[in-house]
This record gives sequence, structure tokens and C-alpha cells, in this order.
Amino acid sequence: MLRRLHKDQPASFAFTPANEAWAKGQISKYPEGRQASAIIPLLWRAQEQEGWLSRPAIEHVAAMLGMAYIRALEVATFYFMFQLQPVGSVAHIQICGTTSCMICGAEDLVAVAKELIAKQPHTLSADGKFSWEEVECMGACANAPMAQIGKDYYEDLTPQMLRDLIARFSKGEVPVPGPQAGRYAAEPAGGLTSLTEYAAGRPKYNASAQAAVDIGDTVKRIDGTEVPLTMPWLGKPAAVKPAKAKASEPKPAAGQPADATGATVQEARAVSKGKPVSDGNSPIATPAATPEAKAPTTMGIKPAALSAPRGGKADDLKVILGIGPKLEALCHKLGFYHFDQIASWSAAEIAWVDDNLEGFKGRVTRDRWVVQAKVLAAGGTVAEAEKAAKA
Ligand code: FES
Repeated sequence: MLRRLHKDQPASFAFTPANEAWAKGQISKYPEGRQASAIIPLLWRAQEQEGWLSRPAIEHVAAMLGMAYIRALEVATFYFMFQLQPVGSVAHIQICGTTSCMICGAEDLVAVAKELIAKQPHTLSADGKFSWEEVECMGACANAPMAQIGKDYYEDLTPQMLRDLIARFSKGEVPVPGPQAGRYAAEPAGGLTSLTEYAAGRPKYNASAQAAVDIGDTVKRIDGTEVPLTMPWLGKPAAVKPAKAKASEPKPAAGQPADATGATVQEARAVSKGKPVSDGNSPIATPAATPEAKAPTTMGIKPAALSAPRGGKADDLKVILGIGPKLEALCHKLGFYHFDQIASWSAAEIAWVDDNLEGFKGRVTRDRWVVQAKVLAAGGTVAEAEKAAKA
């Protein structure tokens, strides 16, 4: 497919201050001279912010990374995860049309998209809410046919299911992703035939769907203010500061051709000396030198918290081995009231909670709360939870 920049381009692009701070944090992951390796996450964040990648956005990212514009354009135009034209304000729907999905009904899903959204792919619906395209295999072939909507997979689809999903997204709902026909993951339609013992303590949804529900950013635009900016690889959180980044034409270094990587010889020298690479117009930070590098440590990522227990009634967290009245009160103070909340914590989230249990640091890991909570959330007994923790 021919992938070109859209004919109508905005005049400029800038990351929000929070996204700018996030982008600098990403750049800091790479050794000096290798900042260009951050190209994919930075382009992705620009797309998360705006919905699609405009030329000014691509050039802004290139300037931040000290890359020639053409190299950033090559990346943006190569991967179809990057949208080069405006997408629906609610959702962009990517329908897999490769073999498994095609055999299982992808063409019928495309017909629904044509009917409800627009006859041609990459075209906005009449109300501007949706756009669609057909894509190649997304690796969920066992759950064909499927579509990616926003960031998440909706699988085992029928035409009617896709109609219903579009209707629900249109009303502002975000349906739970994953298999839509009752399967937990990719097991046989008739249910598990082996490893059945693992079904007992599992979370409500499969790992991918559970993470999608927990993160909840399926079709959201990301301005960075809702995303934790802790950066464990630095051991320091990134402060959110207004950025003055300005997209501008990078100038090839005088008298020097670009090298094989696309960077000019002067750029490479400047980077290797640890200096910020600049075309003379764009402010480019050297991450290690930013003020946020001196900020205090905060580990991990804060899990989703509740302001009050659902239905006004919290689970009795004290049945989890290792949680007493004080720790239960601390959990409530942090917004954790239910077994399923604890059961869904990722490694980064466990690290955050462990680090924020004043006077009880490290108890989540030490007492295996998550293992116990998974059993309890699935309806297991306290004895079964304890047994799982000691296994
Ligand atoms: S063929 Fe559709 S996900 Fe692989």
C-alpha cells in the first residue's frame, strides 16, 4: 500500500508539557549517540496525543532526536501502526484481512465498516467519529476474525458484533476487548482440555484484556497528564515542565555529508561528546543533565485506584495472609479496596505499592498478595489463597 503524508497538514506540532517530559525520559534510556533509537516510542506518543502523525509531528520528533527528517519519515511511512491521515475522533478500526481472518469472515467485517463508516478506508465517517482500514495479520489468528480498535484487539467477531461495538463506542462506551464470543483466551471453543488447574485462580479476563481494562486508554488521546511519569530506569521521576520545543527545518552540517546512518558527521561528533544535538533552532535536551534527574526516587507505576469501594462495600483484605488492620487501612488510603484490584497488579505496580506502604515496604512481594488475591477474586477460599501463597 502506498503510504503518503496527508495533503492537509497542520501548521505546527508540539508535545504537551507532560508528553514532552515523557519523551525526554524515553530518550534517556539510550546511550549517548543512540538517541535515534527512541524514534518509535516518540512517534507513537505523538500519535497517541493527536490521533495521527502529521508532517510537523514527525519533524518535531526528528528534531528532538537529532535525526534528519527523511529518516523519521522513513520510519513513519513504513509501519502501518502509524496513521498518516486524520482518524476518527472516537476510534480507528483496523480489520485483519489475512488468511485466517479472511477464511473466518473478515470480508463481512469490512462490509460492515464500509456500510457504517465509509466506503473507502482511511476516510472519516460522516460524523467524524470513525475511520477504518484493512491490515495484515495481527497475530491473533486463533481468534479470527479480529480487529484492532484503538489499541486493543476485539476477537472472534461476527458482523453483528462489530456493528454493536461501533454503536457502543459511538455512545462513549469502551467495550471490554478480547474474545467477544465467550472464550477466555485462545482455548478451544468447547473449553480447556488441558492445564485446567490454571483456570481456578485466574483474573476475570485474560492477561491482555485485563491489562487493557486496567490501563483503560483503548481509544483515549494521551496528553500525558493521566500517565504516571515515573521512570524506574533513572530511579527518578520526570518533572512536568512546559516545553519550548519548536518544529523547524534541520540544517545539514556545513560542508559535511550525512553518514550512513543519516546523521551528519558533526551531529555524530556532538552526540558522542555528550552534547545536545541541535540544528541551531530546536532545543534538544541531554536527558542526564535535565533538572528532573535530581528529583527523589519513586519506584514503579501507581495502579488504578478507587475513591471509594464499589457498591460501598470493600472486600475484607485482612483475609490475605500478611494484611492486618493497619495495612488494610493503608490500602484503603491508597484506593485499594477489592481483591480483583490487587489481583490485577503488574510487576511495576507491585513495585509502586511496595514502595508506598509506609512502615510496611515490600509486603506485597514478601507475602505474595497478588497470588492470594487472584484466588480470592476468582471465588476461592481463604485456605486456598494461603495454600497458593505458600506454594
Ligand atoms: S490472520 Fe488475522 S490475526 Fe492473523
